[in-house]
Amino acid sequence: MRKRIVAGNWKMNLKRKEALVLVSEVLSQISKHENTEVVFAPSFLYLFKIAKMCSDFESVKVAAQNCSKEKKGAFTGEISSEMIASSNGDYVIIGHSERREYFRETNTDLAEKVNRALANNLKVIFCCGESLTQRKDKIHFNWIKKQLSEGLFYLSVKEFDNIVIAYEPIWAIGTGMTATNEQAQEMHQFIRNCLNEKYGSEVAEDTSILYGGSCNPVNAKELFSQTDIDGGLIGGASLKADDFLSIINSF
Ligand code: PGA
Repeated sequence: MRKRIVAGNWKMNLKRKEALVLVSEVLSQISKHENTEVVFAPSFLYLFKIAKMCSDFESVKVAAQNCSKEKKGAFTGEISSEMIASSNGDYVIIGHSERREYFRETNTDLAEKVNRALANNLKVIFCCGESLTQRKDKIHFNWIKKQLSEGLFYLSVKEFDNIVIAYEPIWAIGTGMTATNEQAQEMHQFIRNCLNEKYGSEVAEDTSILYGGSCNPVNAKELFSQTDIDGGLIGGASLKADDFLSIINSF
């Protein structure tokens, strides 16, 4: 059965002390055996410390927000999957639209990153999403299929065990504009159908597909009640303990 996951993508926010206080506040209010998997994606700088703070909590995991496509070597400023794994990271977020847009990451780059991450036993939260123009032009389904095919669909069934997909319509990220429940469910169902076509029903049924894009304590409950939405990748609302907790409790 697929997991319910609520992941907080902090992006480039929070100073060290603020980050640690936020994690303590969240941990103080969830059970050690939560049904929902909770993921913190802090800055690389705090990852090791936060992983340690979470180590008693079976269902709390830590993610890096990016990784290098290179294995190791002379790549000043880069952080490898091996480093993330050796700092007790569990996941890495790959293909966020901010990385695709501001850092020009292509589907080919992302595929290399996915391979590196899996080779280091990290799980991957793979993001896909369309722009508003693409949606208006009605090419959004083809666009998402292309992102999945080029970014993920060379993996084996076994490798796919370690993949979580996050659907994040770009027009809904940080804008306060959320996809309607129907729009989100429609796309999640489409993604699950793509998985079914490529890998069969077991992979399709077992892969968690998260919604991201202005998900908040007010809209989370309805979004999470949609058949094919298995949780969320939360940006802004993951920076406040109360909001994040309320989203975690929205199933
Ligand atoms: P948001 O960001 O919740 O602030 O819209 C989501 C994301 O980019 O992961």
